[in-house]
Amino acid sequence: MRQTSTEVAVVGAGPAGLMLAHLLGRAGIDTVTIDLRTRREIEETHRAGILERDSVRLLVDTGVSDRVLKDGDEHRGIELAFGGERHRIDFPSSVDATVWLYPQTDVFVDLADARERDGGDVRFGVSEVSVADLESDRPAMRFTDAGGTEHEVRARVLVGADGSRSLCRHEFPPALRRQYFREYPFAWFGILCEAPRSAPELVYNHSERGFALISQRTASLQRMYFQCRPDTDPADWSDDRIWEELQARVGANGLTLEEGPITSRSVLPFRSFVQEPMWCGNLVLAGDAAHTVPPTGAKGLNLALADVAVLAPRLAQGLRGGDVPRALDDYQETALRRVWKAQHFSYWMTTMLHRPPDASDFDLRRQLGELTSLVTSPRGAGSTYLAEGYTGWPDPVLSFH
Ligand code: PHB
Repeated sequence: MRQTSTEVAVVGAGPAGLMLAHLLGRAGIDTVTIDLRTRREIEETHRAGILERDSVRLLVDTGVSDRVLKDGDEHRGIELAFGGERHRIDFPSSVDATVWLYPQTDVFVDLADARERDGGDVRFGVSEVSVADLESDRPAMRFTDAGGTEHEVRARVLVGADGSRSLCRHEFPPALRRQYFREYPFAWFGILCEAPRSAPELVYNHSERGFALISQRTASLQRMYFQCRPDTDPADWSDDRIWEELQARVGANGLTLEEGPITSRSVLPFRSFVQEPMWCGNLVLAGDAAHTVPPTGAKGLNLALADVAVLAPRLAQGLRGGDVPRALDDYQETALRRVWKAQHFSYWMTTMLHRPPDASDFDLRRQLGELTSLVTSPRGAGSTYLAEGYTGWPDPVLSFH
């Protein structure tokens, strides 16, 4: 077994792990980051596409890349479609902010390229990952690299940024661990299709047949989702059946979709989850490893980036000053304040727009009442509330200059 050492060992080379390694690298701190998946596998996984204002600033201002500003699309609002009509929520007029449509796979590519450019140590496609000696001051991360060589990396701190199926989060003592979660009785059927845009902005569509989201990727590639049963097998759905269902849902609110060949399809699970603590001994969690949100509202990636924007300066300070526990003292509290706001926002958007399987007429009319209040509140309270959450709550702790 090859033995080496570093300052921070990071399990997981998704956006949370790579952004953390990038921010620590800027502070002069060495990291080794590993991932079970190959770079190609991560690049081919389709994830959400909306970046909050502060996520864009984090990518651009810390020198990851400004590609988001060139290749991404700025969105100044969204549409809520319900009750036969489409209503626009404008962001700049209510919260002086916008979001950017820039898919998570592009964020990943930018981060992976930046690590390579800056000489960072990232190993993709590893296997046999384990962590050990978490209570000691030299915890270990063990893995077998893609070439078959076994490694043990001793570090001062281990970070579990290993996603919603995290191994690291199970390493906390059970007596200390609390898990909060909620399941939903539906999932999303997601497609990519080669077609022009059907609407200028994203359309969140409520209908008696269930929710649909009309999102975008480029001028000729679109991303769409519709609410389905959690046990749906994508193979059971022909292209014609998918288009029929999508058109019926948005047609109820006056929108007609531009159709085209469907190039990818998958069913996305729906779950809200938080694990506490996010930090214990020499192990710290960040991103999906500590919390998962349902995709309505696209908060997952943004929360992961916000976690590491809070974590990186604290870790850097603790490692430099020699007192890591003291420097991490308010990490969890600070991160969780945003996490629970985002949990509520995602839950709220989800329950307002989806049709529960046992929904009564009362439930559907009540949802329409809620949506109507939102878009007609005379002083704009409803749309401002939505816009604040959607663009990301501004937070002074996320200043990283
Ligand atoms: C997406 O484009 O993948 C997307 C956009 C907005 C959401 C969820 C997903 O709320």
